[in-house]
Amino acid sequence: MPTRHIISIGDFDRDDIDQLLDHAAQIDERKFDENALKGKILAALFFEPSTRTRMSFESAMARLGGSVLSVGSVEACSMAKGETLADTIRVVSGYADAIVIRHPREGAARLAAEFATVPVINAGDGAGQHPSQTLLDLYTIRQSMPIDGIDIAMVGDLRYGRTAHSLASALSLYHARLHTISPTGLELPANLAENLEEKGMEIIEHDDIRDVISTVDVLYVTRIQRERFPDSASYFNVASSYRITPELLADAKEHLIVLHPLPRVDEIDPRVDDSPHARYFDQSRNGVPVRMAMLMQVLQ
Ligand code: NCD
Repeated sequence: MPTRHIISIGDFDRDDIDQLLDHAAQIDERKFDENALKGKILAALFFEPSTRTRMSFESAMARLGGSVLSVGSVEACSMAKGETLADTIRVVSGYADAIVIRHPREGAARLAAEFATVPVINAGDGAGQHPSQTLLDLYTIRQSMPIDGIDIAMVGDLRYGRTAHSLASALSLYHARLHTISPTGLELPANLAENLEEKGMEIIEHDDIRDVISTVDVLYVTRIQRERFPDSASYFNVASSYRITPELLADAKEHLIVLHPLPRVDEIDPRVDDSPHARYFDQSRNGVPVRMAMLMQVLQ
């Protein structure tokens, strides 16, 4: 049987996604075997900062009776001695039943999958993809409305934001209409936009969130990915250039939900947290049942 990696959201078709989200919903209702992954070990290789992704994978494994082995950082492992990623992955494959990896280089998870003899889950590869985040984003949308045919506005750093890339790709399977609002220079990569349009997705660029706030169903806000900028001057040129406020949301549809993969910097005013539109903390909580469903898929 081929090893079941999860590298890109493109590895899933729509039925796969719907089934996984249905499974996550059952898990959310506490319908799961607490020993489903007893004796299984997940290796967590996080070569970039992470709070939610890492901890929710750990929590997911613990809730299913499995355990997690971690490497703290590049400095703390043999990659600091010059070991290649390929060799690290070959070795770790001998210690664990699956590997979850976050790495600053785009394509790193795909490379890891080539050398691994156990399933690899991509927890973010540079500005590339973040499929587990997308699954929990879709799950959160589905808690409020059917995903089919939604109007979604993606706001922020759509150039480097891997969560936006993966989510836009998945939404092309659900006939969503995508509105984009980003600072100059941080637009959705042209090759991704072309690819989505070829799949029939309508993408509309706007200069100002106010142009779409009264028409969209979902507002997906992202942080400017400072760590991917070539220098700090170019970051400060665009920093703090957009902010979601209660005043802005006054014109929103009643059912509009505001999502953010987190961490936020200053792009959502904390006063929005108490609004009925705010769903970003539910969204981060949803990481656990969704990642439990993913782990059961690759490990059982
Ligand atoms: C995101 C990431 O790492 O891409 N964080 C996350 O996993 N929730 C978003 C970000 O860092 O801006």
